[in-house]
Amino acid sequence: MTLSSPLRFGVIGAGRIGKLHAENLATRVPGACLARIADPLVANARETAARLRVPAFSADYHEILSDPSIDAVAICSSTDTHACLIAEAARAGKHIFCEKPIAYDLAKIDEALCAVREAGVQLQIGFNRRFDANFRRVRAVVAEGGIGEPQILRITSRDPAPPPIEYIRVSGGIFFDMTIHDFDMARFLVGSEVSEIFAAGAVRVDPRIGEAGDIDTAVITLRFENGAIGTIDNSRQAVYGYDQRVEVFGSGGMVSAQNNTPDNVTCSSAAGIQSARPLYFFLERYAESFVTEMKEFVACVQSGAQPPVTGEDGRIPVRMAMAAARSYRENRPVHLSEI
Ligand SMILES: NC(=O)c1ccc[n+]([C@@H]2O[C@H](COP(=O)([O-])OP(=O)(O)OC[C@H]3O[C@@H](n4cnc5c(N)ncnc54)[C@H](O)[C@@H]3O)[C@@H](O)[C@H]2O)c1
Repeated sequence: MTLSSPLRFGVIGAGRIGKLHAENLATRVPGACLARIADPLVANARETAARLRVPAFSADYHEILSDPSIDAVAICSSTDTHACLIAEAARAGKHIFCEKPIAYDLAKIDEALCAVREAGVQLQIGFNRRFDANFRRVRAVVAEGGIGEPQILRITSRDPAPPPIEYIRVSGGIFFDMTIHDFDMARFLVGSEVSEIFAAGAVRVDPRIGEAGDIDTAVITLRFENGAIGTIDNSRQAVYGYDQRVEVFGSGGMVSAQNNTPDNVTCSSAAGIQSARPLYFFLERYAESFVTEMKEFVACVQSGAQPPVTGEDGRIPVRMAMAAARSYRENRPVHLSEI
């Protein structure tokens, strides 16, 4: 397929994350241009298209898939639509950037990945945290042997406030909605697959989250194939802000990344020493990573290189979330081979 220059994109889904990717494609990703936006909530598509001066919008994503001038799509719709949209877009010959997770069902994921292989198009999954400058550096240090053999991983991932209860009800549960990013980070940072997961969970933030069938607090232990062990701790509410820290400890040292703050000023007085709270939430904290992931996707489509987050990289954290959910339900360690 001959590619346009710049690469012409259609954005499918203009909600929270779709608006962000649309803006990045329209203004911050050299080599890309945004040609059309589709969302059945057509007001979302219209408003985003008008704001970004995008020439076309529609309620129906088929208008993107049937447009031969469009090279690639960014799938930003709700998770339940991703697998079908990936398969349809692949059959239409479009290169695909798709938000995480691909689906909550491995059979659906496999069908979508099969359609991508058959069509020979590029697919990248939106695990944006891999492109964060701090976490990239941590990974690079571990990969270069800078801390020797990795032995312990620690990920702290706490949201500033819980989402609305209606969102919790359809989120798929904390492991699929929130920890999924941490599962991806775990295998990325350590450079080894996880073989076993044990998850403890509790409702400590809001009883309505428990009534909706979910938990809001979790500690997950991981055993890696290379012998390392790790923990992830999650909370839906850290009163001091979005808490995103990682640490990898090894035979030759330790590498860690602290929270990003809007400024690095400290104010010292008789009462104590004060500094800024972490950047509020994912749109602020990970803003640059969303731009970088899209730049790298565009570069891979243009060069034909394999995207840095593959379909398989999208599938594995879903299996890890399934293992964590089973572990929590059955109160026992779950080997990934059980999933
Ligand atoms: N990478 C990240 O950090 C991150 C952050 C937020 C959301 N996400 C993912 O992005 C996806 C969307 O999340 P959101 O928070 O933007 O949700 P949202 O509810 O704000 O937006 C989803 C949009 O998709 C539209 N939509 C639904 N079906 C569609 C279809 N068939 N065609 C076109 N549009 C359709 C909806 O009308 C809505 O406007 C989810 O899969 C979520 O997991 C990823």
